[in-house]
This record gives sequence, C-alpha cells and structure tokens, in this order.
Amino acid sequence: MKHFTSIHDVTDLHALLTEAAEIKRDPFKYETFGRHRTMGLLFFNSSLRTRLSTQKAAQNLGMNTMVLNVNEDSWKIETEFGVVMNGDKAEHIKEAAAVIGKYCDVIGIRSFPSLKDREADYSESVINRFIRYAGVPVVSMESATRHPLQSFADVITIEQYKKTPRPKVLLAWAPHCRALPQSVPNSFVEWAVAAGYETVVTHPEGYELDPSFTTGAVIEYDREKAYKDADFVYAKNWSSYTQYGKILNNDLAWTCNAKNMALTRHAKFMHCLPVRRNLVVSDEVIDSPDSIVIEEAANRVVAAQTVLREILKEQNG
Ligand code: CP
Repeated sequence: MKHFTSIHDVTDLHALLTEAAEIKRDPFKYETFGRHRTMGLLFFNSSLRTRLSTQKAAQNLGMNTMVLNVNEDSWKIETEFGVVMNGDKAEHIKEAAAVIGKYCDVIGIRSFPSLKDREADYSESVINRFIRYAGVPVVSMESATRHPLQSFADVITIEQYKKTPRPKVLLAWAPHCRALPQSVPNSFVEWAVAAGYETVVTHPEGYELDPSFTTGAVIEYDREKAYKDADFVYAKNWSSYTQYGKILNNDLAWTCNAKNMALTRHAKFMHCLPVRRNLVVSDEVIDSPDSIVIEEAANRVVAAQTVLREILKEQNG
C-alpha cells in the first residue's frame, strides 16, 4: 500500500480484515516493524480519537510520532496556487509538504471541507497536494470527502459483532444543529458495500449523497421501512450535498431513539463520535447494552495499525 485515502487503496479487504484481527489479538506482535521511522500527524481541524488512536498505532509499531496543529502551532499554510501571498498565510503547501516529507516517513493529514464550494471540496486539493509534494506515503485522517480509517474501524467492529454472514447495515441520517461534512457517510457506504453487507441508507429528501459513493447501496426514504430488521444502525448527520452544505431538516423524528430501534433486529448502535446526545441519538439508545460506540472507537487503533503496517511493508521491501 503506497497511500491510504480510500477503500480504493485496499487490494484485498478480506486479507486486511484478517490482518486486523491478528493485530487486535496481539497489538505488540510487530512492535519493532516501524523502528527508526517517523510518522507526522498534521491536523488542520480538531480531533480526539484520530489524533490519539493513530499516534498509539504508530507507537505500537515502534514508530516515532510528531503531531502538528497546522495553522495554530505552525505558520498558516496557503493551499492554493498562483495567489499573491500578502495575507496571513506565510507558507505555501509546496514548501511545507516537501519539508515535512524530509522529516517524516509517513504523513497523516486531517483536512475538512469548507462546505461552501462543492467542486473545490470534492477535488480534495489539500490531501492530493501533500501526496504530490511530500514524496512519502500519505494517510487520510479524514479528508473533505472520506474518513477511511474510521470506516475501516467500523467494518472491523461489524465483523466482531455480526451474527449473520451478510448483516443488514443501516446508515441513518439524524438531525444536528451544525452543518457537517459528508465524509463519514460517503466513506462508510463505500466500505460497507465492499465488505458485502446489505447496505441501506435512509435520510429525508434533499440529503442524497454523491451517487458515486452509494453504488451498491439501497436508498430508502421511508425511515420505518429502513430501520426494519436492521442488524446494525449507524446514525450520522451530514449536510446536504445537492444544496451544498445546507441544513434542510431538523425533525427530531429522525433522532436514533428507542422507537426507531424497536423496528430493528436488536440492532447494534454505531456512531463515529463525537455525538450530540438527544439530537443524533437518545440517551437510552447510546447507553443501552446494544451500543458499541466505545468498542468502535477502540478499533480505531487496530485500523490505523493495520494500515501503517501495510505501508511499512512496502517501505521495508
Ligand atoms: N471519529 C473521529 O474521527 O473522531 P475525532 O474527530 O475525535 O478524531
């Protein structure tokens, strides 16, 4: 594996899941595999889980880690080309990426979308420019359109809990007070379909995701029909893709609550976290024994460690 930015960088998901299970059983099996290698973790946006789990994953492989809150701890970075840099951004991405590439053997990047310009966001300019100018492998720690480390952890978690070979996995839109990216839902659907699950997406009219991410999934506008007999419910808010970045609906009937969950086949509740209680999910659902959000977050270490090992395998030859 050269870079990790989406499911398309995975040649054999089944083999990767087998490797993840092995790493989960014995996290220190490859504790010297990344010796004398350095991972840089660059955050253009806030994080709790991604920051700590990816750092722990690298350290479990014996790697050194350096964390930078870009634009806060460092010079502000200009990511566009051809601009007169007479504002507050003192450094261009061309030099910044190239320099960081000299200090790091792998670079993780978190860069959220603006939610203002769909074309610009979906071009993934920040992560693609790091790939172009850093000269070392780049790992997405959530980009404008995808969150593959999260999705890989989600699939590891479903494999851990599933009771049937092909569970019904529901991605259920839920309300939120702020406009959120489509990256988690886009990515989750891609991975769930690739894993071979019966993948259903439910949302109000106007929340259709970019169809290139939902190939192979069923879109069901009838929420009750969608929840019916689900084995896993992944609640998530996202802002509109069609009316880009807009909030179109605040109906609390879409909150993942006990009434909706009662339609399922005792479904496990999932969410990437952080989550707003009693808006996205009711207290009783997230606090129930069927909630697996903490194990899901724990599996972020397993996912990151598996991906980093794949990248190191290629580097180590
Ligand atoms: N799920 C997730 O990516 O969490 P953080 O934003 O805290 O990293």
